[in-house]
Amino acid sequence: MSVLVNVNGRISDGASAAISVFDHGFLYGEGVYETMRTYNGEPFLFDRHMQRLRASAGMILLDVPDSDNDFLQRCLETMAAAGLGNKRSEGFDEAYVRILHTRGIGDLSYDPAATPIPSVVIIVKPLPLTPESQFQHGVKVCMVDVIRNHPQSVNPLIKSNNLLNNALCMQQALRKGGVEGVFRNYRGELSECSQSNLFIVTHGVVRTPPLDAGLLAGITRGFVFELGAAAGVTVEEAVLNDSDLFGADEAFFTSTTKELMPIVQVDDRTIGNGKPGPVTRNLLGDYRRRANEMTTTVVR
Ligand code: PDD
Repeated sequence: MSVLVNVNGRISDGASAAISVFDHGFLYGEGVYETMRTYNGEPFLFDRHMQRLRASAGMILLDVPDSDNDFLQRCLETMAAAGLGNKRSEGFDEAYVRILHTRGIGDLSYDPAATPIPSVVIIVKPLPLTPESQFQHGVKVCMVDVIRNHPQSVNPLIKSNNLLNNALCMQQALRKGGVEGVFRNYRGELSECSQSNLFIVTHGVVRTPPLDAGLLAGITRGFVFELGAAAGVTVEEAVLNDSDLFGADEAFFTSTTKELMPIVQVDDRTIGNGKPGPVTRNLLGDYRRRANEMTTTVVR
């Protein structure tokens, strides 16, 4: 099964799914989104994603009239139609689920009154596989000279459909041979990556930039704090600079789709001994174990 899309309740295949060019999500990038994935066919941490979707929408004064359960039912229907629900047969893929919530269709105007009805799009497809070798051997990331959006411009806390800042970062990283790009903020501090949060490990302590460095409050990032607390590993927020990353014993980035990905190279610098370190490997193992436990016990 390839891609299925649910546009305002109507499910169609990826090629025929369509939305009006007068949707302000298309015209102005006015909308918010969430990317989720399943473990054992269940959307993982669905409630937290919904909470963040509502928080993002609130920051652009966008109403979200549907309930969390409405969203869940729509996701499950689309997943079931794609053969990716929890009734999927043995050996089927896990699902990638993206919810987009835009201001809706209206005349060419920035006045929210022009768009009384929001659009809701859900894209479901098999979860793109990240080669396990990347988790085993780690990956290269690249510093970019694109600055992360200033929080008083398009606040990075908003998981916005307007992803130009992120795209420019990733494009530069790809040109330099990295799998991710690392942003600095307007003060020159490290903030996050194009589509993930950044962590370093020094003397066994895990550190990540604080939210006011200008970054998305990643759901995986939040989960890493909980895993650290459970494992007796200190995980804390700290203002970080280039030298903290370059001199770290270990580094990794986190996202829903990439879990905890070990970083072993930043541009031409080797991080630690050039291999995923023990703290990163243990946290990744804990993450997968917890994700599996939390989705096999759900009764629907
Ligand atoms: N990206 N920072 C940015 C800029 C992101 O776009 C993402 C997520 C994250 C990590 O957030 P989370 O742990 O909640 O996935 C951090 C998703 C995967 C995406 O854009 O599809």
